[in-house]
Amino acid sequence: MEQVRKSIHGVWGSRWIFILAATGSAVGLGNIWKFPYITGENGGGAFVLVYLVCIALIGIPIMMAEVLIGKHGRQSPINAMRDVARVSSASKSWVLLGWLGAIAGFLILSYYSVIAGWALAYILRLGGGDYENATAETINDSFSQLQADPGEMIIWHSLFMLFTIIIVAHGVQRGLERAVRFLMPMLFLLLLILLGYALSIGSFSEGLEFLFKFNFDKLTWEGALTAMGHAFFTLSLGMGAIMVYGAYMPEKAPIGNTVLTIGILDTVVALVAGMAIFPIVIANGLQFNAGPGLIFQTLPIAFSQLPGGQIFGALFFILVSFAAWSSAISLIEPAVAWAVERFNVKRAVITAIFGVFAWLLGTATVFSFNIWKDVKLLGFNIFEGLDFLTANIMLPLGGMFIAIFVGWVMQRDIVKNEINLSSKAFISWDFVVKVIAPLAVFIVFSLAIYKQFFGG
Ligand code: PHE
Repeated sequence: MEQVRKSIHGVWGSRWIFILAATGSAVGLGNIWKFPYITGENGGGAFVLVYLVCIALIGIPIMMAEVLIGKHGRQSPINAMRDVARVSSASKSWVLLGWLGAIAGFLILSYYSVIAGWALAYILRLGGGDYENATAETINDSFSQLQADPGEMIIWHSLFMLFTIIIVAHGVQRGLERAVRFLMPMLFLLLLILLGYALSIGSFSEGLEFLFKFNFDKLTWEGALTAMGHAFFTLSLGMGAIMVYGAYMPEKAPIGNTVLTIGILDTVVALVAGMAIFPIVIANGLQFNAGPGLIFQTLPIAFSQLPGGQIFGALFFILVSFAAWSSAISLIEPAVAWAVERFNVKRAVITAIFGVFAWLLGTATVFSFNIWKDVKLLGFNIFEGLDFLTANIMLPLGGMFIAIFVGWVMQRDIVKNEINLSSKAFISWDFVVKVIAPLAVFIVFSLAIYKQFFGG
């Protein structure tokens, strides 16, 4: 059997480093920025329930499938898919799945960097004391000002992209692991402080009710697709990020428990963020459906009222930026790893070239908040369109095909060997990957797209 046992890009120091890196990829803007605002836009409870079910039933099993392909292929997702398909005597076209992922990574990185740029801007704003004793209205206005100023947004977007390029150029192992090991617990601690604040302002139970009361009348098929798409987005699935990290996984690490740990950590961070944010929304009479600005309009209010808010606020946005950073590197890594394998060029050169591409594309997202606000296709502006295309179409479909590939196409012995589950656990996982996950994605996806674009 043809096998490449070691990746040329290196191997994580231990199973824990893999968990750290993959959690670093998973925990990011998706948890702290996106989850609260899409929950707000989609009416809360029922949306959250669909999201949780998708994480457990679709996300975690597919994450195992992705890690498995990466770990066996030991290369970039494009080359891993090609080789694993060949070893399994399957069609060459499966390599397209790798390509689809690399492209999705680019598209996501382009707007991800713009939003992460907002977080950078807010480090200065909070640290500079801009919001001390400010009213909700002033805080709102200040966010609108940032959005209206393409120049400022581009500066922060450029800075964030530069940071991303620097890390990826150095290879993922050096530096970032250490940073993440220290920063992730800090981020968690600060979220808990915010949660404490939310508990103290008196609207906590209403916040919980919004998040966990399963009001199904508010849920639409489009909302269900957003919830499912977000399950993929937040776990970094469907585009090869987790696959490429799996390629650097130590040989002996067990896939099942490892993936479960990552999934749980990611979900807890999202739920805690939601529990911290919605009480603030309610107590201040803010809009649930404020959209992408939600955390930038709510959290400064909390910090402006907390003792030491200036420092904690700045620290919080520093940590959000770090969380975004450790995710951004995994968005571009699949493409970079492929190019390094393919062209035998320096990683740094490739990373810079790809980074500049993603940066350029990102400027379109910057403009979609101001001068190109009214440029719309199918009702979406550029940012919304990119978000919909990637999170609601490319990732779920990518994930669905990964499940089909591992469930039906990949050579069985390889799957069984790599996944290394007890026979009972294997039977359930196998059934989910073969039937449940692909079917669920297919149904939610088709119904939602039909409703969204063909009325109903
Ligand atoms: N999971 C990241 C987040 O929640 C985003 C991401 C998506 C990263 C896809 C890599 C791949 O912010």
